[in-house]
Amino acid sequence: MLKRVQHDKKKYVIPNLFRNLEFENYNELIAFVLISERELYKKMKVPFFDLNSQFSSIEEEIKSALDEVFKTQQFILGPKVEALEQTIAHYCQTQYAIGVASGSDALLLSLMVLGIGKGDEVILPPFTFFATAGVVSRLGATPVFVDIDPDTYNIDPSKIEEKITSRTKAIIPVHLFGQCADMDPLLELARAKNLFVIEDAAQALGSEYKPHPHSDGRRAGQMGDLGCFSFYPTKNLGAFGDAGMVVTHNADLAEKIRILRVHGSQPKYFHKWIGINSRLDAIQAAILLVKFRHLEKWTEERQRKAKRYGELFQDLLSSMHGLLLPMIQYKNRHIFHQYVIRVQERDRLRQFLMENGIGTDIYYPLPLHLQECYSFLKYRRGDLPISEKASEEALALPIYPELTEDQQTMVVDRIKAFYRK
Ligand SMILES: Cc1ncc(COP(=O)(O)O)c(C=O)c1O
Repeated sequence: MLKRVQHDKKKYVIPNLFRNLEFENYNELIAFVLISERELYKKMKVPFFDLNSQFSSIEEEIKSALDEVFKTQQFILGPKVEALEQTIAHYCQTQYAIGVASGSDALLLSLMVLGIGKGDEVILPPFTFFATAGVVSRLGATPVFVDIDPDTYNIDPSKIEEKITSRTKAIIPVHLFGQCADMDPLLELARAKNLFVIEDAAQALGSEYKPHPHSDGRRAGQMGDLGCFSFYPTKNLGAFGDAGMVVTHNADLAEKIRILRVHGSQPKYFHKWIGINSRLDAIQAAILLVKFRHLEKWTEERQRKAKRYGELFQDLLSSMHGLLLPMIQYKNRHIFHQYVIRVQERDRLRQFLMENGIGTDIYYPLPLHLQECYSFLKYRRGDLPISEKASEEALALPIYPELTEDQQTMVVDRIKAFYRK
């Protein structure tokens, strides 16, 4: 990306993105790059995500919701959090929802409430965000990784049984990129083996599994014992900071999580269990309640963009070996938190797109079984080949409700240009 200027070997230039700006020396250039990282994203013709556009469209609604909170001066839990809990419980077709400080804490509290800890094993896919496994380790339990299905990137249920031991306590399927994992065989196995199921639905609010001709599918989060959501700012329903939620049909588990999220205290200052501080705050809840009013419309927009990507890529699909578009299993309701394609020469393509002002991202560049912190588990490259291959080929393209048709056309045109070269 960085080139020396032809007419002056002492000068450097960054082509394209900075309109060939020239620098006197390398240090000057590095200083510029550091300061300009944020500017760079502003200059992107198609940023990978664009929270500013979303905010502009709801700015007044957000400000008046925040004003309400400021007037009450009640910032931790309280009526806004309760209203959000009811809204999410209803949306997820569950009876209970408990607001917590993040998606990671939703997973942590779910494991805690089930009493999972030292000596226990928990089965999960390695192709996910670190939190799915990190929380298991944090409690002294061992993550046991099971490879994914190559088409959906979700845990392959047919590979779970061989990993179950007398120590296995739970399975955490992750509904990656906004599509539900294949839950029927997984739930059947869990029932037969007496295992808990915690859904990591951090990326899947509103996604549905296996609709039938005369009925909608089951919502993510309500199929297992507990479902965990993240409202990280770039999620389909994103807060202005960290926030998360656990949903469940089980009144006892719900009640216990409510207690665990306030250090296990009930009544105040009397501690029934050793919990953590993981309270959702009223400001985040107020923002999420405003954004929730737009969620269905935004989801439909994401689905429309995904369909259009499919149409724009049609000719390349037949001519280009190795290009794969997202696959929708069982006519699931995919909410397209991410639109992930698979390509050869992924890293070179990503660099080329960046030089052309198009942001992309890689979920995930290194599967969890090969992470340095898990070297003690003694997995080797080749043990979970489908996840490993996906981590070399998967590329997430921009997808958000505000993405324009022109921007989308530009993304696909540039990808075509790269493979024509
Ligand atoms: C699959 C998955 N699990 C868990 C999390 C953790 O959520 P949070 O970032 O809100 O802690 C995330 C969010 O990034 C996620 O994508």
